[in-house]
Amino acid sequence: MTDVAVDTSELRKTYVTSSGVTEAVAGLTLRVGRGELFGLLGPNGAGKTTTMGMLTTRIAPTSGTAAVAGADVVGDPIAVRRSIGVVPQYNNLDRQLTALENLEFSGRYAGLTAKAARRRALELLELFSMESRAGAKINEMSGGQAQRVMLARALMRRPDILFLDEPTSGLDPQTRVNLWDILRRMRADGQTIVLSTHYMEEAESLCDRIAIVDHGTLLACDTLDALKASTDLETVLTLTYETDADAEKIIAQVKELAGVTNAEASGENLRVFTLTPDGVLAALVRVGQDAGLALADVRIVRPSLETVFLNLTGREYRE
Ligand SMILES: Nc1ncnc2c1ncn2[C@@H]1O[C@H](COP(=O)(O)OP(=O)(O)OP(=O)(O)O)[C@@H](O)[C@H]1O
Ligand SMILES: [Mg+2]
Repeated sequence: MTDVAVDTSELRKTYVTSSGVTEAVAGLTLRVGRGELFGLLGPNGAGKTTTMGMLTTRIAPTSGTAAVAGADVVGDPIAVRRSIGVVPQYNNLDRQLTALENLEFSGRYAGLTAKAARRRALELLELFSMESRAGAKINEMSGGQAQRVMLARALMRRPDILFLDEPTSGLDPQTRVNLWDILRRMRADGQTIVLSTHYMEEAESLCDRIAIVDHGTLLACDTLDALKASTDLETVLTLTYETDADAEKIIAQVKELAGVTNAEASGENLRVFTLTPDGVLAALVRVGQDAGLALADVRIVRPSLETVFLNLTGREYRE
């Protein structure tokens, strides 16, 4: 056993369809250590599910290599599958069966005896505070309950590495925080976890290291602190004016203001990068007024994963 849980090199998936060619994953090289809680963060369509699919042997790479728990995903998919637990993005439990039955089937499939499968299933249902729902059918459950059953199912065979594809999307904030606690506890027990998410706050509060992906490309990969440090801790001010394209009018002037590191116009928005947000904001308001521009909205994004993303891509994360 090595210290490396996941090791990819120039991993690529190209889809060719009638509507064109999509580089879903465009040459991804990354490494996840054992015991890490590793986050793959990116907006919709970034390539997270495709990456997860290749790492869990569901999707064949177009080129490049990936080793999971020391086994090659193409050369030895069976060994990979034996080492992993997977929680997919969408509920694929058997909806007509109960939680307990879903878990028992999965355990039997993984080679446990009927008795061992039941014992493990009950143990996991208890761990996720689902023991009272053991006999409930999946189609009678809330999204958060089904999510916990999926997580329990992935743990039936005590996997080396757990893959979770957007495990908290669609959950209410309370349920999300509960799941974070569960994942933190598992991490503390030494479980290696690779999760994808489009929630910045999820990556920020949960992950040891974060890979930021967009358009199939790895933009950065590091700890939260290192990622933040890489942007010089700039605050980003986004000013919205009442008429389209007005920001263009003052951009040259804004760039000259003391404390402004960069400024760019995008539609009616003016985006200003600064290390001294308070003074700059006041100056910006004056410049706008002098140009006769009516301000509709101001957004202040303090140094965070969001400003890292902006710096790397020049785009707002949620655009
Ligand atoms: N089977 C497929 N055939 C063609 N294109 C695909 C296929 N699967 C994914 N894509 C495309 O590949 C890109 C990446 O998709 P992917 O599902 O990996 O993104 P994602 O990061 O998981 O997004 P989301 O946050 O919406 O789940 C998208 O442009 C998507 O349209
Ligand atoms: Mg996805």
